[in-house]
This record gives sequence, C-alpha cells and structure tokens, in this order.
Amino acid sequence: MHFLKVSAALVLSLTAFVSAAPTPSVFITAEKDLTALWNGPMYQQYISSTNGTTLGMPRADGGAVNLPWRYYPSLAKETKNTIILTNGRAETVGKFREFIYDLSQNGFNVLTWDHRGQGLAPRLGCQPTTLSDVEDFNEGYVGDMQKIITDNKKSGLIAGHNLLFWGHSMGGGIGVGHMQKFPGTFAAAVLSAPMLEINTDPYPGIVALPIADIIEAFGGPCAAAPGQNPVPGPVQDPNLGGVTTSAIRFTLSRQIYTQFPNAQLGGSTARWVSEAISAIQAYVLKAKYTTTPIQLHQAALDTLVNDNGQNVFCKGLKVLGVTVIKPAPKCQLIRHEAAKHEIWAEVDSIRTPYMNTIIAYFRQFSV
Ligand SMILES: *[C@@H]1O[C@H](CO)[C@@H](O)[C@H](O)[C@H]1NC(C)=O
Repeated sequence: MHFLKVSAALVLSLTAFVSAAPTPSVFITAEKDLTALWNGPMYQQYISSTNGTTLGMPRADGGAVNLPWRYYPSLAKETKNTIILTNGRAETVGKFREFIYDLSQNGFNVLTWDHRGQGLAPRLGCQPTTLSDVEDFNEGYVGDMQKIITDNKKSGLIAGHNLLFWGHSMGGGIGVGHMQKFPGTFAAAVLSAPMLEINTDPYPGIVALPIADIIEAFGGPCAAAPGQNPVPGPVQDPNLGGVTTSAIRFTLSRQIYTQFPNAQLGGSTARWVSEAISAIQAYVLKAKYTTTPIQLHQAALDTLVNDNGQNVFCKGLKVLGVTVIKPAPKCQLIRHEAAKHEIWAEVDSIRTPYMNTIIAYFRQFSV
C-alpha cells in the first residue's frame, strides 16, 4: 500500500514536471502519408486560407500589378510567429501545400504570394506570356515583398507579429535583397538553395550577363535568353524536373499546374537573366550588410543554382589571404550531400532532418 502511494506520488510529480516544461513536438509529413493528407487536410487548409491581393510596385508603363497572397494561420496554438514564405522562379503558392501545412502544424503562421510575372500574378507584357520576366529585380520583386509586408501590417493581419523569413531559390535571393534594404524586418531567416549565383551552363557565368545584355539590346527586353524557350516544363517527368528524388512530392506539387495551366512558365527573357544576375551579384558583394541571423541550406546536387554564390555570401571570399568580400555576419551554412534543388520537397531521408533543423531554428527566434 505504502509502495503504491509512493509510486502514485512519483507519477504525479513526474506528470507535473513534464507539463511544466513540455518539449514541443515536431510534426513532419512522411511520404507514405502524403497523398491522403494532400487531398484531405492540406487541401482544406489551402482553400480555407485567407486570400487577398496587394497592389505591387507600378509597372514600367505605369500599369498596376495586383499580387495574389495567402495567409495560413497556425494549425497548432494561436501565435504571432509568422513566416514570410517566398517562392522561386516559375513557382506558385499552391505548390507549397505540404510545406506550409508542416510549418503551420508546428505553430507558425505563413504569409506567401505569387511574384509579378508568374504564377497567378499578372504578366508584365512580354509575349509569349510563358516567359519569366521582370523589369527590375529590386524595384519589382524586392519592392513588392515590402508592399506585401507593410500592407498586411496595416490591415492588421500580421500587425505586431514576430516575422521570420523562408525563401527558396529565387525567393532566397529576393529575401537577401530585402534584408539588405530593410534590415530589422526579420528575427531570423532560412535560405533554401538560394539563388545567389545562377548555373548558366553552357555559358560561363562571366559571359552570361554580357550575352543577356547583348540579346536584350538587339532583340528587345522580351527576347528569350540564350537556350531558353517559352514552353513550360512537363507536369509529369521521369527525371522529376531534376529538382528532387521524391516522385510523390514532385507529382503532387505539380498538380497545381494542371489545375491552373495559366500558372505555368517556361524559360526566361534576356531582361530577366540580366536583371537577376546583376541583382544577385550585387547582393553577394554586399553580404556583410545582411545582418539578420541566417541559416543557409545548400543542396550538393543542385543543377539550377551554383554553390559558389552561397559559399561566398555565407563565408566571404579571400584571394591570396586578403579578404575581398566579407560574409553575412550571422550566416550558418548547412550542406545536404544527397539533396537536389528542392530540399523542402526531397525524399524523407533528406527532408525530415531538414524540417527538424529549420523548425528548431525558427523556434529559437520565436516569441
Ligand atoms: C478568397 O476568400 C474568399 C473569402 O473567404 C472566398 O470566398 C474565395 O473563394 C477565396 N478565393 C480563392 C481564390 O481562394
């Protein structure tokens, strides 16, 4: 009897201890559960998210660009920790259904949008409309990002929130441009395979910019860049776009382009290539002004962006022992040896540790 009382007391005190200092659990979707979740709760979350449009920066011709955005409140307890999620070239919000679901299951709100000239956002006037285009990388993408944030603060949706940043590929490049121009916006940032140097194969990086500039000068801003054509990539592809090794994640995330064929893009205009290369080169040169704490995830098997720009941004560049470029001061680089470009949509053996790492990092900077 006595013994039982003691153990009951022990259990009670252990329970009290556990509930006083709970270890937050982490929910991460597994590939085997994905199809059911994708068509069930993830779809429900997607269609019931708050949607709206924000007037972006004016177009070169003065025209208006209304950017469609979506806000997904946390699916765990209510929170003011909000991730500003910025997608990549040719992408659209719906592609991130699983990734957003996992972030919100872990207690974060997510605000995301389609960039001008792609996804469900208006095109900028080039024909065919399936070419990626931007008139000015800084004014356009970075300026729009600031408008999305400030307008949604003014409306009250994210007023007083602790903002965190997550950007993939071109979205990571846009985020760096934003952090340099508007420092102090984010408590911390995760850059996932950020576009800080484009793989311009077969052209060496050093000539890609002048080639794009020459084509733009002779063919006009809407001319296709070398090797680029306006035909969108296939929605079904045995090579999985060369961006992931997870067939199920590739297949499901591309369904959105079947549902919204107008969201599909092919290659890029010469103007886009010229704008993108010159903007991101400048961001890497100015890395030391990116003072936000950053966790940069590098995919070793990436064929779309080069490691070099990420390495220089995060670690700086020394030539003959002399520092030529100073790094972003609070940048931590994590390399995934088996990952292709879309680390967040990779197989579980890569994605699960990646998700654990970024969620722990975001929690470290949460309120
Ligand atoms: C946007 O939200 C409104 C109001 O909840 C809803 O009626 C509408 O269907 C949503 N639009 C889209 C495109 O999801």
